[in-house]
Amino acid sequence: MHSTLPEVLFDEVRIRQRVEELALEISGDYAEVDELILVGVLRGCYIFLADLSRLLTVSRRIDFISVSSYGNSTVSTGAVRMVLDLRLDIRGKHVLIVDDILDSGYTMQYLVKLFLARQPASLKTCALLHKQGRQKVDITLDYRGFDIADIWVVGYGLDCGDKFRALPYIGRVDPTPFPD
Ligand code: IMP
Ligand code: MG
Repeated sequence: MHSTLPEVLFDEVRIRQRVEELALEISGDYAEVDELILVGVLRGCYIFLADLSRLLTVSRRIDFISVSSYGNSTVSTGAVRMVLDLRLDIRGKHVLIVDDILDSGYTMQYLVKLFLARQPASLKTCALLHKQGRQKVDITLDYRGFDIADIWVVGYGLDCGDKFRALPYIGRVDPTPFPD
């Protein structure tokens, strides 16, 4: 049983501030573009994307993709599986992939490959969190919120065994006591 709440890593004010900075940077970079397609990677992205998309000043459309790589484990197997594809046709469009966290990088690498084959006008990547020293593949994020150590984080959309997603802050848990 876990009766205590996860230890706070980034509180609501800090997250808000960083998301505002990212929105400003992205809005500036895409200022000349007709339309930006934001692709949220379900499910972890849902709160970050909701906040980020509302702060952008560029014309944008929102779509989602869902992939799964972990099953119920907290260790990536490297095998990424598509669960739900985009509805929009991204050919000739400016696309920004928005994920909650870059860990091994397998998910982002899979999505970049998949989307490049669809010939977008441009493709960039954004993640709110970047786990240091964990990347198994060569991926550089175009936009990233915070660097974190190799710990398991929850809240603001991120889960541990589907728990804690709705926490307003980003906190740290030890995943071992939280089996599914
Ligand atoms: P990657 O393919 O290993 O980079 O994994 C990326 C996905 O794993 C993210 O989109 C998250 O859904 C999930 N993930 C990785 N680390 C964490 C974490 O610390 N907390 C919650 N989800 C995580
Ligand atoms: Mg995810």
